Amino acid sequence: MRSLSATGSVTLLLLSLAAAVPHRTRTTRYAVNKDRADAVKEAFQVSWDGYHRYAFRHDSLRPVTNGFADDRNGWGASAVDAFSTALVMEKWDVVDRILAYIPEIDFDTTTTEVSLFETTIRYLGGLLELTYAPAYDLLTGPLNDHIKQISDVEAILSQAKRLADNLKVAFDTPSGVPDNNLFFNPPRKGGSTTNGIATIGTLVLEWTRLSDLSNDTEYANLAQKGESYLLHPQPKSGEPFPGLLGTNVRLSDGHFVDSNGGWGGGTDSFYEYLIKMYLYDRERFAEYRDRWVLAADSSIEHLVSHPTTRPELTFLAMWRGKELRFVSEHLACFNGGNFILGGLTLNEPAYTEFGLKLVDGCHETYTSTATGIGPEIFAWQDAAHPLNATNNPPAPANQAAFYSSSGFWITNGNYVLRPEVIESYYYAYRATGDPKYQDWAWEAFERVRETCRVGSGFSSIRDVNRPGGGGYHDFQESFWFAEVLKYSYLIHAEDAPWQVKADHTNEFVYNTEAHPIRVAAPRAGETVSR
Ligand SMILES: *[C@@H]1O[C@H](CO)[C@@H](O)[C@H](O)[C@H]1NC(C)=O
Ligand SMILES: *[C@@H]1O[C@H](CO)[C@@H](O)[C@H](O)[C@H]1NC(C)=O
Repeated sequence: MRSLSATGSVTLLLLSLAAAVPHRTRTTRYAVNKDRADAVKEAFQVSWDGYHRYAFRHDSLRPVTNGFADDRNGWGASAVDAFSTALVMEKWDVVDRILAYIPEIDFDTTTTEVSLFETTIRYLGGLLELTYAPAYDLLTGPLNDHIKQISDVEAILSQAKRLADNLKVAFDTPSGVPDNNLFFNPPRKGGSTTNGIATIGTLVLEWTRLSDLSNDTEYANLAQKGESYLLHPQPKSGEPFPGLLGTNVRLSDGHFVDSNGGWGGGTDSFYEYLIKMYLYDRERFAEYRDRWVLAADSSIEHLVSHPTTRPELTFLAMWRGKELRFVSEHLACFNGGNFILGGLTLNEPAYTEFGLKLVDGCHETYTSTATGIGPEIFAWQDAAHPLNATNNPPAPANQAAFYSSSGFWITNGNYVLRPEVIESYYYAYRATGDPKYQDWAWEAFERVRETCRVGSGFSSIRDVNRPGGGGYHDFQESFWFAEVLKYSYLIHAEDAPWQVKADHTNEFVYNTEAHPIRVAAPRAGETVSR
């Protein structure tokens, strides 16, 4: 999940001109690569078979020991997360298995602490996405034969409502900013006094969608109330640059308690969802668009950073107040894709061009390592700030040579089957049609496949800069199914209604777990109105 050269004011000017310029029809052409798509499907099947055999009904497979983990409350997270990928891959046996399973899930009972954020993006997102596909596929396309088995949309929607009804207690705070942690039995909040902007601001798509599908505005109102404190940040210290915020917000009054932020974990998908809400519904979420534009322009103006040893690379810095930190992470590599989606959605090529530069930087974090996979966290020395200042230290001695050739050094070398780099290649490809991005995605997939394949599935690894990956964590994350395999597949697959479009005709928007959510009002071929 989650920055240049044009200045902010130039970008703003271009944006205001865009209102007056009629929509230009792009003819981006896409190529199918069946061999690669089939190879990704094969990896999905291996992962599913291992999960189904050793871990089904539990959350995650431990592929080395053929064990399981219940890291997401034991409701079968991998099954729910795998569903939309099985659907786009047309793996009907897996689709049927998951469809039969969903109504069985007991969402009322868990003794373990529940994460509002994780439950929303994985389970609620996974269930909601179930609700669009039959509706679409009843009308047209390759799923015609499948209608009998997947017609029970109401049962799925009622499971989504049941889950959300159990989660609602989290919003019962003085401000309406939710507590991210809660328990179901008896229903109560976890007792936190603050929550972070990613875990507050990455609910609004799923909860709004649930309201739109169920004709019950309460879900949307709850999530949008929490979000309102992020759209109108208080006090001023909570917004060190226009549109770029601190991280933690008090549940008592919705005020920010710090000024530290970035496009990485803990804050990332708040920014991601601003533009995605506008894509979901351009009428209702114009303010979210305005906030995304502010954040994007500030990022371009203030956060762009080039490493001393590879000044042609572009990364986005993090911030503590107005002071920058030259650190980024795998999670933040969604940012290239998000800028590209913003550029497409707003018909503003400057954002797309900038997003492509970010994609280049994240590509380098993959190609530079011994495994060909990028690290969890990396750092660099910024060329434009005083060298060796406390916020701009040199590379550690043991990585000086690596930094000299790569433009970053590794501060955490894990790879936990994260999607963000391949996700951004997907957006880059769908925006440009340039086969280079298909090649990059294939290369990344191949390296992940050869490094992480073990036992009954695929596992997180300990060190991307050691041949072989430095050992396994014996853990196959559910988002491997939902995200890595889906984006790796879609970039080579046939065009389809759920594919991202370069021409403003998107019918779907992907939640941060890569579950495609049908947009509220598709605007095929229409001019972007601002
Ligand atoms: C919501 O309302 C629409 C329009 O009135 C209707 O078509 C739809 O069936 C309703 N959905 C539910 C779940 O009640
Ligand atoms: C910064 O530190 C590095 C490594 O200690 C040193 O080689 C270099 O000369 C220093 N540069 C400046 C401008 O102080």
